[in-house]
Amino acid sequence: MSEKTCAVPPAFSAHHVVSGEAYQALYQQALADPDGFWVSQARRLLTWYQPPTKGFSGSLRDGNIRWFEDGTLNASFNCLDRHVAAGHGDEVAIIWEPNDPKDAPRRLTYLQLLDRVERAANVLKALGVGKGDRVCIYLQMIPELAIAMLACARIGAIHSVVFGAFSASALRDRINDCGAKVLITQDAGWRGNKSVTMKQSADAACAETPSIEHVLVVKHTGADVPMQPERDLSWEGLLAAASATCPPEPMDAEQPLFILYTSGSTGKPKGVVHTTGGYLTYAAYTHELVFDYRPGEVFWCTADCGWITGHSYVVYGPLANRATVLMYEGVPSYPDFGRFWQIVAKHRVNIFYTAPTALRALRAKGDAFVIGHDRSTLRILGTVGEPIKAPEWEWYRAVVGEGRCPIVDTWWQTETGGILISPLPGATPTKPGSATFPLPGVRAVVLDEAGNELGDPKATGLLAIAASWPGMLRDIWGDRARFLQTYLQPFPGYYLTGDGCRRDPDGYYWITGRVDDIMIVSGHNIGTAEVEGAIGAHPAVAEAAVVGIADDITGQAICAFVILKAGHEGSPGLADEINQLVRKIIGPHANLKQIRFTPALPKTRSGKIMRRLLRDVAEGRELGDVTTLEDPAAVAALIEAVRV
Ligand code: PRX
Repeated sequence: MSEKTCAVPPAFSAHHVVSGEAYQALYQQALADPDGFWVSQARRLLTWYQPPTKGFSGSLRDGNIRWFEDGTLNASFNCLDRHVAAGHGDEVAIIWEPNDPKDAPRRLTYLQLLDRVERAANVLKALGVGKGDRVCIYLQMIPELAIAMLACARIGAIHSVVFGAFSASALRDRINDCGAKVLITQDAGWRGNKSVTMKQSADAACAETPSIEHVLVVKHTGADVPMQPERDLSWEGLLAAASATCPPEPMDAEQPLFILYTSGSTGKPKGVVHTTGGYLTYAAYTHELVFDYRPGEVFWCTADCGWITGHSYVVYGPLANRATVLMYEGVPSYPDFGRFWQIVAKHRVNIFYTAPTALRALRAKGDAFVIGHDRSTLRILGTVGEPIKAPEWEWYRAVVGEGRCPIVDTWWQTETGGILISPLPGATPTKPGSATFPLPGVRAVVLDEAGNELGDPKATGLLAIAASWPGMLRDIWGDRARFLQTYLQPFPGYYLTGDGCRRDPDGYYWITGRVDDIMIVSGHNIGTAEVEGAIGAHPAVAEAAVVGIADDITGQAICAFVILKAGHEGSPGLADEINQLVRKIIGPHANLKQIRFTPALPKTRSGKIMRRLLRDVAEGRELGDVTTLEDPAAVAALIEAVRV
C-alpha cells in the first residue's frame, strides 16, 4: 500500500474553513470540553426554538444516549424556512438532472422547495399522519424524494426511505418492521435505458402490509398504473389542492427524525434510528467541515437517498447549510461513461462526492470519457462506502481533478449519521487509500481482540469509538437488545464499528474492511445471512453459504456455495434460477457472481461455517488452517465443487 503523502494545496491551506493550525486547535478544544464544543456547534449551525444548554447525557455503557436534550427544533425549518426568512428564497436549493440528458433539468429554489414541502406536509396531515407516525418512501432520485423526507420532518413523522431498486418483498419487510401508515411511491422510474416498475412492486408489497392505509403515487414517467380505489391517491392532485402553509412542528432534540434499514450480519435488516437534534447538527457540521462548503457552490453527492449518504449529504447536511444540491436520477454509464463529467460541466459542479466502485468502473473505460468535459469548476473530490485503493485514488486526483483538487476519503456508516474519519481539504496531507484522521469531536481508537486500547500510533485491530458523538444511532427500531448487543456490549464503554483497521506510525487510519459477515458490493452492504436465506428459498436447495470475494469493479462480489437436495443436479440453468430468485427477493444489487454446487460445507465443530476457507477456495488460494474442521473431507469436496 502506498504511503506517499500528498501535501495540502497552498490555495486550500489559505482559504479553507479550517486550516492546519485551526484544525489542531479545534481538535484540542473538542477533546478538552466535548460538551462545550458540541453545544456551541449545535447553536452555531442550527436555529432552535429552545437552544440546548446540555451536550451529552447518558452513557455508552447502558446505551441510553441523549444529545442536546433540553433543545427543541424542526429539521425542515432548518433546511428551508430560515434560509427564506434570511432573504435567500431565490437561491437554488436543488438542481435535478434527469436520467436522459435530452430532457430538461428542474431547478427548485428554496422558496419553491418550501412551498412543495408545506403542501406535502398538509397532505400527510390530512391523511392522519402525525408526530411519531412512520411514513415509508419508495422513490427513485427525483425531487419528490427530498420533498417527501422534509414534509415528514416538518410534521414530526418518522420517514423510512427504502432504496428504489429494492424488491417488493424487501419493501414489504421494511414497511412491516416499522409499521408505516403511508407509502409514497411513483408510477415508474428510469435507470439508464431500463424502466423500473415502482408502483407494481409497491402493489405487490402492500398486499401484505396491514399497517399501510394510503399509497401516494407521484406521476413521473406517465406509465399507466392501476390505482386501488380509496387506498391510492395522486400526489400531484393532492398537493395542488393543499394549503401552502404548514407551520413546522417543534420537536424535542431526541425525537426520531428517521429510520433507515441496513444489513446486519445475522437475521433481518436493522432499522437504524436517528434523532432530530444530534443528527442534524452532525450532518451540518461534517458537510461544512469536510467539504469546506460555502454558500453559492454546487454540491453533488451521487448517492441515492435510499442510503445514509443520500440522507446526510444530498438532503439534510447540504440543505441545512444552504447549499445548492445536485440530484441526479440516472446511472454513471448512461448514455455513456462520460455522463458524470458531462453533468459536472453542465451544472458547474464545485464539490463532487462518489463511491470507489463508480471510480473503478469509470477508470476502466479510459480517460477519454473524462477529458472531453470541462471540470475546471471542481474544487474538492470525495469518496465513501468502501476502501479506495491507490490506483483509483491516483486516477481520481490526477485525471478527474487535474491534480488540483484535494481528495477526501470519508469513512463512516449508516449508524454514525455522518462522516467520522476524513481528511479536511485545507488541513490534512493525504495518503492514497487512507481516510487519515478522526474529525474534531470524534474519539476513534483501535482495540485488540480482548478490547484493550492500543496506545501506540502504529496498531492493527478493531476500530471503535470511545465517546458518543451527536450523529450516533440511538436504537434499532423495535429491537433494543440487538442495538446493545451489536454495538455497545461487545466492549463496554465503546461503540464497536465492525470494521478492522490499521493505524500507521504517523497516526493515519487505514480501514481494512468488515470483520463480520457483511459484504460490500458496489458500495452496498449485504449480509451473508440475508443472501443465504434467499438462496434457501429455492425448492432445490438444501443449504447455502456465501462469501464476498475480491472484484475489480464492484469491490466485493458474492460467491455462493450451494448444497442441493437429493434428486437435483447442478446446472447453469439452475444457477441462473437461483440467482434470479435472490435478485427478486433482495434486489438486483445482490447478484450472485459465482455459484458453486458442492456436496458439503466446511464447518467447525460448533457448527459455524468457516467462511475463511470458502473465500480461499473462491479466490483460488492455498487453504489456511483446517485443523478445527469437523469434517476435513468437506474441503476436498469443496475444491471439487462445480463452478457454474
Ligand atoms: O466497512 C465500512 C465501509 O462501509 C461500511 C458502512 O456501510 P454503510 O452503513 O452502508 O454506509 C456507507 C456510507 C457511509 C463501513 O463499516 N466504508 C464506508 N466508508 C469507507 C468504508 N471503508 C473504507 N473507507 C471508507 N471511506
